Amino acid sequence: MQKVKAVVAKSKGAPVEVVTIHVPDPGPGEAVVAVQACGVCHTDLHYREGGINDEFPFLLGHEAAGVVEAVGEGVTEVAPGDFVVLNWRAVCGECRACKRGDLQYCFATHNATQKMTLEDGTELSPALGIGAFAEKTLVAAGQCTKVDADARPAAVGLLGCGVMAGLGAAINTGGATRGRSVAVIGCGGVGVAAIAGAALAGSSPIIAVDIDPKKLEQAKAMGATHTVDSSKADPEIEIAKICSAVYEGAMGADIVVEAVGRPETWKQAFYSRDLAGTVVLVGVPTPDMVVPDLPLIDVFGRGGSLKSSWYGDCLPDRDFPMLVDLYRQGRLDLDAFVSEEIGIDDIEAAFEKMHHGEVLRSVVVL
Ligand code: APR
Ligand code: ZN
Ligand code: ZN
Repeated sequence: MQKVKAVVAKSKGAPVEVVTIHVPDPGPGEAVVAVQACGVCHTDLHYREGGINDEFPFLLGHEAAGVVEAVGEGVTEVAPGDFVVLNWRAVCGECRACKRGDLQYCFATHNATQKMTLEDGTELSPALGIGAFAEKTLVAAGQCTKVDADARPAAVGLLGCGVMAGLGAAINTGGATRGRSVAVIGCGGVGVAAIAGAALAGSSPIIAVDIDPKKLEQAKAMGATHTVDSSKADPEIEIAKICSAVYEGAMGADIVVEAVGRPETWKQAFYSRDLAGTVVLVGVPTPDMVVPDLPLIDVFGRGGSLKSSWYGDCLPDRDFPMLVDLYRQGRLDLDAFVSEEIGIDDIEAAFEKMHHGEVLRSVVVL
């Protein structure tokens, strides 16, 4: 057991606190990781607000990179000294989804069996089974994906959640390739990652839609070929115009990624796709939101698919090393997602900035 500094949300809505926690030595199948960097994600704020579940206290942070410090019995995936990106999809290999080959839908992903605790022994619930706003954290060995040790922790740690979610929504879920058009509605961290993914995949045109002109500028820097300010123009009409100028007769984009998580923008996505196109919902709706009223004939008439994307349908051990390699080659600008590096005491300020859309990502560096 060791004592380390960590960021904990103790009760619903209360500001987070930096406290000392106890991290057990790794048991069978577990690893202790010395965290080097961890991004601040919307999900951390949702945990703090009690929007995910009531299992307080939470150990926040889940978008992280670090070095494996120790491993428990039977661990072969990683060894002490390995530089890893943490993931929340350590697949079980045994559930029905895994058995039929759909590992990205695994129903029983692995986390550490032992619990980290507060000093008084209260068990902590680590965010997404990770809990990486901490000098050290305990995870299942399968949650560690070894990547190129020379990569910048603050940049590659972001693959652990938001950037992977966006990139994967475009590529893995949406099937972005060359010869296909992609539109992305909502250009925050997740949306611009989808744009970067579409660009990596060679898609064109790549249309960024947002109501904030600053976000549209950012989207261009990440590879958008066109932008639509949907506070001024109708995105359905604009997307159809842009796509039909390239692909004659196109009624919309082949793939439309919704990265806001609201019924109105999902409806825009629905009507912005071409015949047989794909809508990918990656923005996270709140439980009270409902599917907008749509004529069933429109669902029938357009064909294609209406999908949602969890974690960009990624397989961490397949996707993280590849994306780190593309980053190292200069083909994926992960540094552009790091708006600022902050200390472990600055998380409340980072939540505030995130809430006001001032940053793509604040990253805690330890
Ligand atoms: N139309 C177009 N864009 C919109 C609209 C709208 N009606 N409303 C908001 N947006 C834009 C914002 O201007 C912002 O650029 O959507 C973007 C949302 O970005 P962020 O708040 O930075 O969120 P992000 O981290 O990208 O996550 C997107 O996924 O993880 C979830 O909770 C998260 O639901 C959020 C979504
Ligand atoms: Zn499984
Ligand atoms: Zn996240």
